Amino acid sequence: MTLSLDFFRSSIGKKIIMAITGFIWFGFVILHMVGNLQVFQGPEKLNTYAKFLKDLGPLLWVARIGLIVAFVAHVCTAILLKLENSSARPVSYAKNSTIQASVASRTMAYSGLLLLTFLIYHLAHFTLGYTNPDHYTHEYILKNGDVVHDVYAMVILGFQDPTISISYIVFMVFLALHFSHALGSMLQTLGILAPKHNPAIQKISTGLGLLVFIGNCSMPLSILLGYVR
Ligand code: HEM
Repeated sequence: MTLSLDFFRSSIGKKIIMAITGFIWFGFVILHMVGNLQVFQGPEKLNTYAKFLKDLGPLLWVARIGLIVAFVAHVCTAILLKLENSSARPVSYAKNSTIQASVASRTMAYSGLLLLTFLIYHLAHFTLGYTNPDHYTHEYILKNGDVVHDVYAMVILGFQDPTISISYIVFMVFLALHFSHALGSMLQTLGILAPKHNPAIQKISTGLGLLVFIGNCSMPLSILLGYVR
């Protein structure tokens, strides 16, 4: 018991929690993107996939609860680490000493806050149907005769609105920035790669951030430009 409390109190314990919970979300974002890219294969494919997820029933709820717990733990631990860092250095440096740090690393708190805003909006739009109920109420008949929620129509109608698709693209810039720094920190914290691999870590994290950016932006962009209808 004491050991586990000591673990949560230590800086390295907190960094490990940040790394694991961040990795859970990174894994989700990759899987979610791969699933969503089926929008390019038409309504039958995307709606069948959405129905498959819904039919997971209790398993889906286990995954959702896991994501919520990971999210809350990630944000709370980030705040605790920030407070610890500030109290360890009560007087801020006269000169900004982070010249060496990348834009991504200096803006982690801001990009994280913007992602939280995105997530609240995204869930209100696509999962709860609050922001645009007219996008949410369509039904689709699958080839096997099942009547399902038309997730394809919801995504197309959503991204045909320039304000929505451009906002998504802007949020994806912050997602890519957050990921590109976070993945590097995570690999170092978990000791997966030694410090001598720093340049390689940086390249891998930037590459993965870029991949998520391109994949997620391809959907709003091609729908907005009318390539996918
Ligand atoms: C262009 C990019 C994206 C598209 C097209 C998209 C699409 C969707 C759709 C259609 C749903 C509702 C699924 C359904 O009701 O069957 C959904 C849910 C969700 N999305 Fe996204 N999404 C995108 C990006 C993201 C990102 C970047 C995140 C996280 C940072 C995210 C997190 C979620 C979560 C947590 C849910 C709720 C899942 C659930 O209810 O089980 N999405 N998304």
